Amino acid sequence: MSNRRPARTASERIELKARKVSFDWEETPLHWVPGDPFTSHTINVLHLLLPAGERWFVHVYRQVLPYIRDDRLREDVIGFIGQEAMHSQAHDDVLPHLRKLGLDPTPYTAQVDWLFEKLLGDRTLPPGRARRWWLMERVALIAAIEHYTAFLGDWVLNAEELDRRGADPVMLDLLRWHGAEEVEHRAVAFELFMHVDGGYRRRVRTWATAFSALVFLWQRGARFFMENDPTLPNGKASVRDFVHRGRHGVLPSTPDMLRSVPRYLSRGYHPSQEGSTAQAVAYLASSPAANGGH
Ligand SMILES: [Fe+2]
Ligand SMILES: [Fe+2]
Repeated sequence: MSNRRPARTASERIELKARKVSFDWEETPLHWVPGDPFTSHTINVLHLLLPAGERWFVHVYRQVLPYIRDDRLREDVIGFIGQEAMHSQAHDDVLPHLRKLGLDPTPYTAQVDWLFEKLLGDRTLPPGRARRWWLMERVALIAAIEHYTAFLGDWVLNAEELDRRGADPVMLDLLRWHGAEEVEHRAVAFELFMHVDGGYRRRVRTWATAFSALVFLWQRGARFFMENDPTLPNGKASVRDFVHRGRHGVLPSTPDMLRSVPRYLSRGYHPSQEGSTAQAVAYLASSPAANGGH
């Protein structure tokens, strides 16, 4: 077991707590970025992936708690679990609204549930090496995914173009409250991985799996929404649309996403080098959902 844990300064140390939030979806249109179904749906994919994905984080982390030999890290992981459970619930709560607007996500979410619960679930492994190997593999996968949730959180906190285009304020607040907590807890998954395992080959291998799976699931999700949107007779999603929106600042830019890859794979990587805790905390202090609800 490795105890390497990159140092953080005291000022960066933040007590993680789950904020209770509430959203009223009544007024949110299907194309919540006005006139731009592709951008709306590409971001809507989060509501398909995160409920099952973040429930899975919580499930895996509960199993890893006994392996943690550092009280501060254990506290961070418990705070992280609370935040992710709330995120999962908040995104899940958007789905009935999408159904009401004529877009039933069940065919897609059923597959995502299978992926996280069965393929990435506990499997029937005997106690011992194999079970531990599979737990560490999943801890490393979560660290890689959290590199991207922090990237996206930082992106959405700064995506002013969405405001300029009149994006729905409730949806923006959901994304920014979640994004801000992702930035706030961005170091936890990586520090946990470094504490219980930290193997470089495992980091690279699980990054490759996580990155490919995210790209695959995301493009399928965007395509699913575009093809099943009742207001779009010939709805399609393409990589070109994605790259184009990235250039205009309504989706993350492809070059920025590519540049984030070598950062995660660099041996000197630490998530504190990404995003701004001060910005995240400032947003959380003013978020309508985190301060009494919409
Ligand atoms: Fe989250
Ligand atoms: Fe997270």
